[in-house]
Amino acid sequence: MKIVTIIGARPQFIKAASVSRAICEYKNKTGTNPRPITEIIIHTGQHFDADMSDVFFKELDIPKPDYNLGVNSTSHGAMTGRMLEKIEEILIREQPDWVLVYGDTNTTLAGALAAVKLHIPVAHVEAGLRSYNRQMPEEINRVLTDHISTILFCPSQNAVNNLQAEGIANASSSTQELKNSPAYNLPQTVALVGDVMLDAALYYKQYAKKPQFDLPQQFILATIHRAENTENTERLKSIFRAFEKICQEIPIILPLHPRTRKIIQDLKLKTSNFKLQLVEPVGYLEMVYLLERCGIVMTDSGGLQKESYFFGKPCVTLRDETEWVELVENGCNNVSGTDTERIYGYYKEMMMKQIDFNLNLYGEGEAGRKIVSFFSLRPNDFKKFKEI
Ligand code: UD1
Ligand code: UDP
Repeated sequence: MKIVTIIGARPQFIKAASVSRAICEYKNKTGTNPRPITEIIIHTGQHFDADMSDVFFKELDIPKPDYNLGVNSTSHGAMTGRMLEKIEEILIREQPDWVLVYGDTNTTLAGALAAVKLHIPVAHVEAGLRSYNRQMPEEINRVLTDHISTILFCPSQNAVNNLQAEGIANASSSTQELKNSPAYNLPQTVALVGDVMLDAALYYKQYAKKPQFDLPQQFILATIHRAENTENTERLKSIFRAFEKICQEIPIILPLHPRTRKIIQDLKLKTSNFKLQLVEPVGYLEMVYLLERCGIVMTDSGGLQKESYFFGKPCVTLRDETEWVELVENGCNNVSGTDTERIYGYYKEMMMKQIDFNLNLYGEGEAGRKIVSFFSLRPNDFKKFKEI
């Protein structure tokens, strides 16, 4: 069984770490396994700074990529197209049984498209997420990837429901699946496995690492990088006005995505009397340390919304909608948009609020193992996957 994993952006390294670790455990546990698994890793190069890429491979023990395509820093079409062409060449050479993609970036779509055109079945981790906002590049990437994938690994029941609403066959139903499958001869399968990011949070928290910079006793952890906030100057300025107001009460630590750093510098958004601590992107182990100690999280990141829940911290989402609706429904997360006063209001509310975080929304931290157990099945046994 040969799997080609295709990753390229920061959150994908963290997600893939859980599955690569489960593949290693599977190999170690079963020396005489009838279906040994080999993983080949393609890094598209979408993220390339040491603190956006290398640090995760080193700290999370992700196997070194077999290929690095060096495609980045260009428009969506050019980026996806160049990745597609290079991935296709490698897939023709490697002839894998499966291609494994994660999340919703340009890397995800390029990987899935390259595979399915060669009739190689695609497995999509974090399938079924929807914002229902097609202005987001991620929404286009995830909708298309889901529809051309053969196995869809969902992190939550809402994700499964979204796929069913779009008519993507469920593993439990009949021969219809065979007709619908984008890769010939395999049933299209929707599997609720839980969230690989929960696996990562549970496993790596034992290795949490104090960052190099000074840490206040109390602080808010914030991140911003989403295109809709960074490319729209008014939205970004409005977020910064809210940060300026909040900082008069409690410091904010903001590890800066390179995209945001550049725009903040260009717009001269941060003044010296504004007590916002801007730091370089931190590694995941440092991020875990910050998550454990912060008061609340304020972010437009997808991954961080869930991590704030995993670490029992309330979250204010600096967007107009979220894919992780169950967090909002259960009061763990508030979607503020980018209006200054609304952000400030939600910050106040979330700092005071008592929240129940023991909700079991994303599984038990076994998603990586469940995904690997799927690959150890023979195609005729896919239906058994429901019982794993
Ligand atoms: C991408 C994903 C987004 C994901 C995010 C995770 C798409 C469409 N977007 O957004 O879904 O949430 O990654 O962080 O795939 N840059 C650097 N150094 C780096 C990485 C990026 O300087 O290591 C710069 C690039 O040159 C580019 C900008 O940041 O100018 C944006 O990078 P890009 O990968 O296009 O999009 P992200 O905002 O990172
Ligand atoms: N992250 C990190 N260092 C940082 C910022 C984020 O390790 O400086 C981690 C974060 O904890 C989460 C993931 O990166 O696991 C989220 O990535 P990002 O916000 O870039 O992308 P998204 O999840 O929005 O696609």
